[in-house]
Amino acid sequence: MLLRFCNEPRYLEGVMGPLSNIYVFVCVFTFMLCNNSQPTVENEFIANYSSSLLTNVPKNIPVHTQVLDLSHNRISGLSILEFISLSKLQVLNLSHNLIMELDFSVFIYNQDLEYLDLSHNNILKVYCQTLAYLRHLDLSFNKFTALPICQEFGNMFRLEYLGLSATMMRRSDFRYIIHLQLHTVFLTLEDFTLYEPQSLTALNTRSLHIVFAANQNFSFSLLYDGMSTSKNLSIVNLRYTLSYKDFPFPPLTLLKKIKTTALMLDTVDLQWAIILQIFLLIWYSPMEHLTVRNLTFQGPLGELTEYEFLPLFDSLEQIISLDGSMKVLTLEHVRNKVYYFNQEIVYRQFSEMNIASLTIYDAYMPHMLCPSRTSSFQYLNFSHNALTDELFQNCGTLTDLKLLILQRNKFESLSKVSFMTSRMKSLKYLDMSNNLLSHDAPDVQCQWSKSLSELDLSSNQLTESVFECVPVNIKKLDLQNNQITSVPKGMAELKSLKELNLASNRLADLPGCGGFTSLEFLNIEMNLILTPSADFFQSCPRVRELQAGQNPFKCSCELQDFIRLERQSGGKLFGWPSAYVCEYPEDLRGTQLKDFHLTELACNTTLLLVTALLLTLVLVAVVAFLCIYLDVPWYVRMTWQWTQTKRRAWHHHPEEQERVLQFHAFISYSERDSLWVKNELIPNLEKGEGCVQLCQHERNFVPGKSIVENIINCIEKSYKSIFVLSPNFVQSEWCHYELYFAHHKLFSENSNSLILILLEPIPPYIIPARYHKLKALMAKRTYLEWPKERSKHALFWANLRAAISINLPMADGNSCGEMH
Ligand SMILES: *[C@@H]1O[C@H](CO)[C@@H](O)[C@H](O)[C@H]1NC(C)=O
Repeated sequence: MLLRFCNEPRYLEGVMGPLSNIYVFVCVFTFMLCNNSQPTVENEFIANYSSSLLTNVPKNIPVHTQVLDLSHNRISGLSILEFISLSKLQVLNLSHNLIMELDFSVFIYNQDLEYLDLSHNNILKVYCQTLAYLRHLDLSFNKFTALPICQEFGNMFRLEYLGLSATMMRRSDFRYIIHLQLHTVFLTLEDFTLYEPQSLTALNTRSLHIVFAANQNFSFSLLYDGMSTSKNLSIVNLRYTLSYKDFPFPPLTLLKKIKTTALMLDTVDLQWAIILQIFLLIWYSPMEHLTVRNLTFQGPLGELTEYEFLPLFDSLEQIISLDGSMKVLTLEHVRNKVYYFNQEIVYRQFSEMNIASLTIYDAYMPHMLCPSRTSSFQYLNFSHNALTDELFQNCGTLTDLKLLILQRNKFESLSKVSFMTSRMKSLKYLDMSNNLLSHDAPDVQCQWSKSLSELDLSSNQLTESVFECVPVNIKKLDLQNNQITSVPKGMAELKSLKELNLASNRLADLPGCGGFTSLEFLNIEMNLILTPSADFFQSCPRVRELQAGQNPFKCSCELQDFIRLERQSGGKLFGWPSAYVCEYPEDLRGTQLKDFHLTELACNTTLLLVTALLLTLVLVAVVAFLCIYLDVPWYVRMTWQWTQTKRRAWHHHPEEQERVLQFHAFISYSERDSLWVKNELIPNLEKGEGCVQLCQHERNFVPGKSIVENIINCIEKSYKSIFVLSPNFVQSEWCHYELYFAHHKLFSENSNSLILILLEPIPPYIIPARYHKLKALMAKRTYLEWPKERSKHALFWANLRAAISINLPMADGNSCGEMH
C-alpha cells in the first residue's frame, strides 16, 4: 500500500494535508528499503540501468542525471511523470525494450534531450510532438509498416541522425523532411514488401545505411536509388536467390545520377553474373571507394554457360582498364562457391585495374599476376591468402608501389622475396609477417629494392642468417618471433637502421651495435637473456630506448652491473621496473630487479680475500696480545713439563737406586740467592702433603771432605738435583759442577735427575763460552722459570714438587715426622 501511495504523490497531496511531512518521510524510508534498482555509478551525471530486468522506468533516478541508460530491459510503456523531474537529461537510451507505442510528448519537459535511442523495440505507432533540440533520433529495428515520419519532424532543425524502420516505402514518405540537412539516415528494412522507385532520392543526407533482412532478396531499385541519394552508402545483406536472368540490371541512364563516392557492401551473397553487373555499374560511376565485406560468389554461374560467361568478363576487362574514378577497392573475407571458373581471368582483371589501392583480404587467393603495363597501384594488401614465392617474380611494372602487405601467406624463401621487390622502385614498406620465411642458402645473394626503408619479417622461421639478407638502407626492421640465436658480428653494416625489434627470439645476450651505428630503439623482450651485458650503452651510444623486459633474468652478482646500468641510463630502459623480474635462482623467482640487492662484498672476490686476510691478521694480533699480557706460553710450558714428569714417573721405577738414596733432592745455589732458597724454596717444598727431604750442603756437610767432594756426595745420595740458576750462580758456582759433569757422563746422559730453576733471566752473553753444557741446557729450555707474579707461584711449586716426588725408603732418624 505504502509503495503505491509513494508512486502517486500528487494525488495524495490534497488528501493528506498536514500529514504530508510524515508522508515524505515514510516515502523516503520505503524507497531506501524497497527500491533495489540502483544505477551503476560512473559519475554523478550518468545513470546506467542497462540490463537490470526493469519493467518500468525507475522512480529514484537522480534529478541531475544527464545520461540515462535504460537499454536491455523489459520496459513496455513510458509516462510523462517518469521523466518530468529529469530536466538536465541529454542522452536517453531505451533500446532493446518492449515499448509498443510511443508518445513523443512524454519528453516535452526534457528541453535538453539531444540523443534519443528507441531502437530494437516493438513500436508500431508514434504520436508526434516537436522535440526541437533533438539531434539523434533512433527508431530503427521496430515494427513500423510505413516510415514513422510525421510533420513535426520537419521542425527538428537540429536533427542529424535519423534511424527508421519500415516494411514499405512510398514516394511521399519523406515529404516532411526533405528540407532537413541530415548527416546520417539509417534504414532497417525487415520483412520488406514494397518499394516505390524514386522514394529514397528525396532524402537529403550525407550518409545512408540500409540493412536488409538476412533471409530476403534485396530490392535492387532501392540499391540504385541509394547510389543516387548520398555520398556515402553502406548496405548490409545483399542476397538474391532468383535466377540471374530475372535480375533487373540498371539502365545506363542511372550512371549520370550516381552521387555515391564511397560504397560499402557487407554480407554479399550473389551469383557471379550479378556481382559482375554491379561492378560494371560501379566502374562506370564516379565512385572512388568500394569496400565489399563477407562476399560469397554463388554458382554454378547462374544459368550461364562458360561460353556466355567469358564475354561478360571481357567487357568487364575493357571497362576496368579504363581510367575510371575508382581509387580504392577493398575485398574482405571472400568465399567462392563456384567450382569451375578460370582463375587466370580473375587475376588478370585485378592486376590490370587502374586504381591506387587494392586490398584482397582473406580470400584463399593462391596467385596474382604481374600487371602487363606500368601499374598505378600504390598500395597492395593481399593479407591472409595462399600466395607463394612465385608472386611478382621478374615484375617490373609495379614502379609506383609504395606499400605492400603480404602477411599471413605461404612465402618460404627470403631471397625470393628480395628479388620480388628488386624492381619496385618506390617501395617503402613491406610486411611479410606471419609467413614461413627462412634464409637457409647463405651463398644466394639477396637483392632488395633500394628504396625499402621499413620491413616487417615478424613471425617467420628466420635464424641469424637473416642478417645476410637485409636491405642495406633499412630504417626499421621487425624480426619479432623468429628463431634468431645471435646477431653475427661480421655482418654487413646497416647504417640507417634506427629501430630493431628482436622480441620473442632465442638470443642469450644483448647484441652490440657494431653493425648498427644509428640504432635508436631496440626491443629484445622475451628472449633467453639470463645476464645482459652491462656495456650495452657504451657500444650503442645513440640508443634512446631499450626494451629488454620479460627475459629469464638470473639474479646473481653479474646482474648487479645491469641494474646499475639502469640507474645510469636515465630512463632508457622501457618497462622498468615491472617487466624486469628474476627467474633464477628459484628462491628469487618473481622478485623485481629493482628490489634485488647483493652486498659489494658478496660480489667482489678481491674485496672478499682482502677482508678475510685482514680478519686473520686481527685475530693473530689479538691472540698474540693475550699471550703476552696473560703469559699463556709460560703456563703451557709449565703444564707440559708437569705432565712429562708424571709420565716419566709412571714408566720408570728406579727401585734399586732408591735403596742408596737418602734425599729427594739436592739444592745448589749461589750464596747471593740463599735468601730466596731459605725463605721460599725450602719452606715451600718441605711443607704440605708428601714429605720432601732436601740435601743442603750447609746442613748436611761431611767434615774432612773437600767442597766438591761434599757436593758430589750430596748429589749421589739425592734422587734429584735442583740448581737455582741466576747470573750470580753462573758466575760464581758453575765451575764446581763442570768438573762433576765432566766425570759423570751418566748424569749428563740421564738428565732426568737434573732440575734447573731459573730465578732470574740469564742474558746469554754472561755465560762464558766454555760452559757448553749450560748453554745446551739453556737452549733446550728445560728449566723452570720462577714467575714474578704471585698468582703463578702455586703452579710453580706444584710443578716442582711433582718433579721430585718419589717414595724413599724410610731411614731411621728421618726428620719427616708428620708422615707417621
Ligand atoms: C544505447 O545502448 C545500446 C546497447 O547498449 C548501444 O548499442 C547504443 O549505442 C546506445 N545508444 C546511444 C545513443 O548511446
